[in-house]
Amino acid sequence: VTSENGQLYELYTEAAKLYHHMLVNTAQGEPSLEYLQKRGLDEQTIDLFALGYAPKTPLLLPYFQEKGTDYQLLRQSELFIVNDDGTLRDRFVNRVLFTIRNAQGQVIAFSGRSLEPNEQAKYINSPESKIFNKSKELFNFDLARQHIRRAKTVILFEGFMDVIAAYSSGLQNGVASMGTSLTQDQVRLLDRVTDKVLIAYDGDNPGQEATKRAISLLGQYAPNIQVQVVHLPEGLDPDEYLRKYGADEFVNVFSHALESPVTFAMRYLKKNRNLANESEKLAYIDDVLAVIATGQNPVERDLQLNQLVAEFGISRESLQGQLQQLILTNR
Ligand code: GTP
Ligand code: MN
Ligand code: MN
Ligand code: MN
Ligand code: MN
Repeated sequence: VTSENGQLYELYTEAAKLYHHMLVNTAQGEPSLEYLQKRGLDEQTIDLFALGYAPKTPLLLPYFQEKGTDYQLLRQSELFIVNDDGTLRDRFVNRVLFTIRNAQGQVIAFSGRSLEPNEQAKYINSPESKIFNKSKELFNFDLARQHIRRAKTVILFEGFMDVIAAYSSGLQNGVASMGTSLTQDQVRLLDRVTDKVLIAYDGDNPGQEATKRAISLLGQYAPNIQVQVVHLPEGLDPDEYLRKYGADEFVNVFSHALESPVTFAMRYLKKNRNLANESEKLAYIDDVLAVIATGQNPVERDLQLNQLVAEFGISRESLQGQLQQLILTNR
């Protein structure tokens, strides 16, 4: 199995080289290269992240067939789509490619971004394979690891472009969950290398909803990790924020726009609620208490409870009772 995987890793490494070559050295790749440059990426960054271009015409299939690569290996690799008659065709067509590496730095998958604004799927990922289990991987974990260890902090993003934008602005301890659903395995991976997670998901609704989920998942599976939320204004995502306000402002928000999970929850959980309505207010308080309950530090929980008491003028005793209940059920 190991040597079989070894062959897959080799295949992916070669594919990444070919895609990168198409991007930086060919006329077909030019629109994609311009696209990435317009998005602020320089040559060094494009090289470091091994960004690529999958052309409109077949690329990998003729290349590997020419080399005599085994059909079964090609088929297993998931770099191709199997036609009805069993022949293969390149999976990625006319897309900018992000190269996904595992924790050891081996290439294990790609994600292709469409350049057409109306494309139904903005990104297409490699399907799962023997070497790619999406729920266990974090984009850029291999490059970020030493920086995470040094800073004892990881920045958690949604998207490839957010990680890359941060990296080129000097924030090199960023990884992406590749979408909004952080998993238990990803949390465990982070728990091994860091004391602190800054959640920097998109400022839009899906991103904020995912932040809420990530806080609870981290509380559940990595209770010793300190969690803070980076609050991006105007529904922007980190990359958009950088382009709009520049690198200095961007770096600044990672130290100045931090919220505790409870502050985040108190702000976010209000958004779609009318707190003048008694039952909506009670639901809100329930939700905030649930977040407070995930905290490990009793003094901190106490201070947070005070915030709720101050805000609603409810008796501390009743809130305290409800909180204790929640803490006990969490155990
Ligand atoms: P840009 O528009 O290129 O800046 O991408 P983004 O990262 O801002 O995209 P978005 O916030 O919409 O999504 C965040 C992440 O979710 C992406 O980086 C992808 O990993 C993933 N994602 C987004 N759209 C799709 C999709 O259509 N299919 C799949 N499989 N994943 C997606
Ligand atoms: Mn290059
Ligand atoms: Mn998003
Ligand atoms: Mn985004
Ligand atoms: Mn974006």
